[in-house]
Amino acid sequence: MATMYTETVTTVRHWTDRLFSFTATRNPGFRFISGQFTMIGLTINGKPLLRAYSVCSAHHEDHLEFFSIKVPNGPLTQHLQKIQVGDELLVGAKPTGTLIQQNLKPGKTLYLLSTGTGLAPFVSIAKDPETYDLYDHIVLAHGCREIAELGYGEEVVNKLYNDEFFGELAREKLLYYPTVTREPFRHNGRLTALFEAGKLEADLGLPALNKETDRVMLCGSPAMLSDLQTMLERRGFAEGSHHERGEYVIEKAFVEK
Ligand code: A2P
Repeated sequence: MATMYTETVTTVRHWTDRLFSFTATRNPGFRFISGQFTMIGLTINGKPLLRAYSVCSAHHEDHLEFFSIKVPNGPLTQHLQKIQVGDELLVGAKPTGTLIQQNLKPGKTLYLLSTGTGLAPFVSIAKDPETYDLYDHIVLAHGCREIAELGYGEEVVNKLYNDEFFGELAREKLLYYPTVTREPFRHNGRLTALFEAGKLEADLGLPALNKETDRVMLCGSPAMLSDLQTMLERRGFAEGSHHERGEYVIEKAFVEK
């Protein structure tokens, strides 16, 4: 079996000076579960340079999609941010990760909580029809500094709501909650503060977050993960893993330092 596929970039979209997304062809042999990540990269000076990236596309889609930060001197992203349609993209053949349904106990509401590029795995999960079979509601919450950084997530959600086949189910079950911390917006504040105040659930017309009915997936910066993990543990949520299902699962967003 191949350890790496060579794919071709098919679209590139720059959202802000810090964020971009792109799509690429998908080898039919590349299988993954919605929410997993894999190594991707470019050949630089004759050698493969790879980093972990969550796959944004759902497992049933015939292309691959990724959402990336641009780090000016980041070993990979200084090159990756310049990719063009037609360029080669290396894709590792062994996807993995903890943000998968198999690690969670059954529940009624699934909270997908992200900051920045931590949104990526949740795009895949929100696009996956199986998610909608498992839960009454799926909350897609995305915290960013500025409104412009929400652009990719807003477009994904609008496409789902307007999808010819999937739209009705998405409009019924998918609750999108974008929030911004550094300029006025319809929702303001960090996810941590919004939960502590019970505001996020109240704004969505849901009961206060509780471990009996709610399941949570976290993906963001180390500080965000640590604060939300503390909040969940205080409320009695147990972390799930490949060995034992729990009430929440966690993965750091793969930001290059
Ligand atoms: P803030 O603007 O108050 O720092 P970043 O781009 O730095 O990764 O941040 C993305 C978003 O995550 C910002 O809105 C930021 O808010 C927020 N954030 C940063 N630290 C935390 C934390 N510990 N808990 C929740 N949200 C956080």
